[in-house]
Amino acid sequence: MQAVQLQALNDFAEWRLAARGLLRAGVSPEGVVWREPGALVGLFEDGPPAPEGERPTGAVPPAFLALAQEAINHSDPERFALLYRLLWRLQGDRQVLEIASDNDVARLTKMASAVRRDSHKMKAFVRFKAIVDDSGLERFAAWFEPEHYALELTAPFFARRFDGMMWAIVTPYRSAYWDGDSLAFGPGGRRGDVPQDDAVEADWKTYFSSIFNPARLKVAMMKSEMPVKYWRNLPEAELIGPLVRGARQAEQAMIARAASQPPSRHLRQQARSSEIVAATGAIATLSDAQIAVQSCQRCTLFEHATQAVFGQGPESAKVMFVGEQPGDQEDRAGLPFVGPAGEVFDAAMARAGIDRARVYVTNAVKHFKFEPRGKRRIHQRPDGGEVQACKFWLDLEISQVRPAIIVALGATAAQSLLGKKVTVSALRGAPIAMGHDTTLFVTNHPSYLLRIPDAAGRVREQAEFDADLALVRQAIEQPGPSEG
Ligand code: URA
Repeated sequence: MQAVQLQALNDFAEWRLAARGLLRAGVSPEGVVWREPGALVGLFEDGPPAPEGERPTGAVPPAFLALAQEAINHSDPERFALLYRLLWRLQGDRQVLEIASDNDVARLTKMASAVRRDSHKMKAFVRFKAIVDDSGLERFAAWFEPEHYALELTAPFFARRFDGMMWAIVTPYRSAYWDGDSLAFGPGGRRGDVPQDDAVEADWKTYFSSIFNPARLKVAMMKSEMPVKYWRNLPEAELIGPLVRGARQAEQAMIARAASQPPSRHLRQQARSSEIVAATGAIATLSDAQIAVQSCQRCTLFEHATQAVFGQGPESAKVMFVGEQPGDQEDRAGLPFVGPAGEVFDAAMARAGIDRARVYVTNAVKHFKFEPRGKRRIHQRPDGGEVQACKFWLDLEISQVRPAIIVALGATAAQSLLGKKVTVSALRGAPIAMGHDTTLFVTNHPSYLLRIPDAAGRVREQAEFDADLALVRQAIEQPGPSEG
């Protein structure tokens, strides 16, 4: 019996090298045992080289290669043996893959599609935490637990989608990091490795500064071109987990917004409005909605936005804040209120003593509307039709979260919630009963504070904003109808 001790969980090149050796040596699938990394067995012993022409060569149809490259990321320990069995069988019958009822073929197909699903989930559910350092430089980190070994397959998507950001995705078996230029991988980590609050920022600065200094970068770039099995030996590969491991562990779920893949052109064309309506009929949870919103074509804003930005926060939140639409940074991060308006919002929430982690934060419109100007994307206010079209998603969020208090940040949010054109000045300062035991408060949009040119005006407007949030805080502290 030949034993193949693999060095990596999902390195197709490694498996193929070993499989070719076995084929050349004429080792049948029954004569080989495949071991995942960590298994306590001897190293792979090469069989005798096959005489030219007498042994199979290992040539396979491209369809097998495509499926095998996906299936190797499956978590089933039998995957390597299955691949080898099919490779072996393909030497005698190149049509094997066409027999859909064949057990091996069915298993391979299933494994490949499970991995694709897992990869899709990762695209939909990876949630980045933004970390801003003193110079205003922003980095992002996310923790994700895939069912299979889908990180390597999926990380290039994030590199393309968030090419202008520096980010890391940490999973239990491996981590990926992108410095804005190259993708590299290192050992896996733990949930607590991903920072949850400012207390760990210093660790992240240390980590990123080591990753992003030019000398390190060079090694990191080399590393991304090397076979997986060598990465573990490089010092950079050990940085992600250990450097941040000493940091305080935070238990809260990281981020409630998906950094999701916008629908491909093909999907967009397929997903006509009627189909979306049919699909959204099946939305039972906020997570369903979070996926479905990525295919939204209810208005044309999806065409230029990076992705839809769904709400963020606990499903059981008592309070929901509704802004206007994601801005430039939100569009890239897939999270609401993480840019400059978010900073104003966070600061005001802190002054009011409202914990952002306990409220649900969303927007009236889920796609970023902008006008390109050179390299910049200038915010444009959504029109009534766009607000109306997106109300579908806001209603879904309200029906799932069922907040007792809704706070409209700005006129667009108030217009969406009240279904008519309104002004903030006419409505602010007093609760508005909305039905279903929900109370609405209307206040200014945080970015309004950023646009006030004079200091005295800013002070005055901030005081009014603070007073509005103080009312919200009071309402939060009142017992609800079922609590009283
Ligand atoms: N402005 C908004 O209204 N929402 C955001 O998420 C960011 C800026």
